[in-house]
Amino acid sequence: MAKRDHFGSKIGFVLAAAGSAIGLGAIWKFPYMAGTNGGSVFVLLFILSTLLIGLPILLAEFIIGRKGQADAVTGFKNLSPGKPWFLIGWSGFFFSMIILSFYSVVGGWILSYLVRAITFSMNGTSETFYEDLFNNVISNPWEVIIGQGAFIFLTIWIVSGGIKGGIEKASKWMMPLLLIFFLVLAVRSLTLEGAMEGVKFLFVPDWSYFTWETALLALGQAFFTLSVGVSGMITYASYLPKETRLGNSALSVSFLNIGISIMAGLVIFPAVFALGFSPDAGPGLAFIILPAVFEQIIFGQFFLILFFVLLLFATLTSSISMLEIVVSIGIKSKYERRKKAAWVYGFLIFLIGIPSALSFGMLSETHILGMSIFDFADFFTSSFGLPLGALFISLFAGYVLTKSELQNDLKVSQFLLNTWRFIVRFAAPIAIIIVFIQGVMKLFI
Ligand code: PFF
Repeated sequence: MAKRDHFGSKIGFVLAAAGSAIGLGAIWKFPYMAGTNGGSVFVLLFILSTLLIGLPILLAEFIIGRKGQADAVTGFKNLSPGKPWFLIGWSGFFFSMIILSFYSVVGGWILSYLVRAITFSMNGTSETFYEDLFNNVISNPWEVIIGQGAFIFLTIWIVSGGIKGGIEKASKWMMPLLLIFFLVLAVRSLTLEGAMEGVKFLFVPDWSYFTWETALLALGQAFFTLSVGVSGMITYASYLPKETRLGNSALSVSFLNIGISIMAGLVIFPAVFALGFSPDAGPGLAFIILPAVFEQIIFGQFFLILFFVLLLFATLTSSISMLEIVVSIGIKSKYERRKKAAWVYGFLIFLIGIPSALSFGMLSETHILGMSIFDFADFFTSSFGLPLGALFISLFAGYVLTKSELQNDLKVSQFLLNTWRFIVRFAAPIAIIIVFIQGVMKLFI
């Protein structure tokens, strides 16, 4: 077997894992999901799901990945030979292709906005300028397909370059810069007149939204933002040398994720209310509100370009992790074939994503279970694929890995180890099953 590539440093791994986690999930999806599901209650359920269920399963993925030292399918086979657990890896392979197929559509929108920002065609005088702009972008078939294709191309290009060069370099300085940007934007948004309404929307609960559907969507959102459930973190952790402290990495990634999500909310909702937009605009929310906030800042047009560049990188550090799952399973450790696999699977994902790309224009009349193709792809993965994957990963960590080997792997106190094991053996699986069954029943029956 070829020698495995490893991350050059611990910080390289944490950044890559955080890079995979932080992306459109926190910045684009979280605000619009919160906006259409009652704000604060969704936020609360999202935080609880992240800390009580997502974080322990993220740690489980780290442990399994580092122990398996291989792609997700081979890793499970190494750890539990002759048993069907490796199917978790295949489920990750399948669902990450679907996620990337619609994720790249949004990546394409970012590229469209970036081009418009660079050519300074991003400000207009009419009141509905930003809504119209978004609708024009998403309904133009050529623009969305070319954007989506270009985004996938960038993803393939980075992944085909190998793990160290590609991934570590990209995440090292982009993320802190993005964080600073969000801080500045939040301050601007919060000082707009009428901003407090937005803060209330985010933090003062309207309990009428406290339902199983919201719980399922929040749970799916927690998994989505943590990249948990499709073996993404198993794949990244398989490139880890033995000595990294996994617990700390899982904690940092989870808190960073919650932090960025809330920060995105604090940029978007105060502005939504202060500038007279509606919080339930759906997938367009961030694309409509962010440029409007930049308009309120000096040199806003210039900073908007920078911001979209950073957003593009945050999105790419997530998309490369999805393609990495697929490619690592597809190639089975022969370095030479990585390039070819990245191209072949990348192209396939591009084709799968075309109906999602067109679902705001040409295919807007086509619905699956009452949802547009794009929304269905998102729902099918976030509310079905990820919880299912997370459930089995949790069970694997809880019942197949023995306590003594975990003790060795984790090097934490007995109390912490027992608490974590209780969660992955009982609490998380039961919570996932109940929320899943109740949520699905309420949504469809
Ligand atoms: N966590 C990414 C985000 O929030 O944008 C999305 C994602 C990446 C999901 C990688 C799943 C995955 F394996």
